[in-house]
Amino acid sequence: MSSDPLSNLETPFQRVIRKNGRSKFKSKSNNLEITQPLTEHEKSKAIRRIHQAKEEISSSNLFKSITVALQKGLKILDKNSVTEIICLGLGKVGEFLTPKYQLAVLLCLSDIHKIEIKTFDPVFTDDDRFILDKFNVKVLSENLEGKYLASPKTVIFFLPHCPKQLTNNILWSNWGLNLCDCILICNSFNKIVEQDTTTNLLKGANYILKIVPHTEEISIENSFKFDDIFNDTSLHVFPVSKLKALPSNFWQFCSEPEYSEEDIEFVKRKP
Ligand SMILES: C[S@@+](CC[C@H](N)C(=O)[O-])C[C@H]1O[C@@H](n2cnc3c(N)ncnc32)[C@H](O)[C@@H]1O
Repeated sequence: MSSDPLSNLETPFQRVIRKNGRSKFKSKSNNLEITQPLTEHEKSKAIRRIHQAKEEISSSNLFKSITVALQKGLKILDKNSVTEIICLGLGKVGEFLTPKYQLAVLLCLSDIHKIEIKTFDPVFTDDDRFILDKFNVKVLSENLEGKYLASPKTVIFFLPHCPKQLTNNILWSNWGLNLCDCILICNSFNKIVEQDTTTNLLKGANYILKIVPHTEEISIENSFKFDDIFNDTSLHVFPVSKLKALPSNFWQFCSEPEYSEEDIEFVKRKP
């Protein structure tokens, strides 16, 4: 692949020089940003930083809170283990600190449960894919817009600070008793509903709104030294007893979510 980040692009880009001297390229028409490839030195540094983040996370109260929440969630679901982690919207792991710590959580969970991590984010660069591969994280190639089925059961969906519409799409994909196989670690449903009811923006989250009363939400204590990496994060499970008690018409209205162009919060799959 060419090392020139502009070589395959038809859109006109402008070069922006950052404070740290690195340049990035910003599309004038759709805000898409292309960052200059990392040097070998920068890639090694990023990998070392992730190892360090993993050590910090594994001994932190934050990770304790996550594992306790997961145990509680599994108990509610009457399950012993998870089979896979799917992470959406991690962000540029080679470039930024927040995705490095969020990845560190995934790696610690994967070590404990001996499960594979799969991830997708449309912003991933070749460097991000290279770094993730070094940690045995499988990068998915297709943009499913969050429409993933929990299979094989039981899947942790990790969506750190992701648009609520991606969560809404996961709920739609598993609408029915399949929700018992989903463990969602993402922005707190209660907070989404609270905020959006006051700002009247819930049209992007109708499946979240419907399932909230039948959800067990376990909040993750935001005790980490950087308080903007795991804030407002909760673990959500859907107990089978609650789902089975719902009338059949609860599940009947399950049309695929549609979001208008002006409301859409995620990157759509290419037609
Ligand atoms: C608010 S950022 C969160 C980034 C990082 N996890 C954090 O906490 O700062 C939301 C992320 O969702 C990603 N995203 C947008 N559309 C997506 C899609 N269709 N599938 C997966 N991720 C998507 C964006 O590229 C972005 O990295």
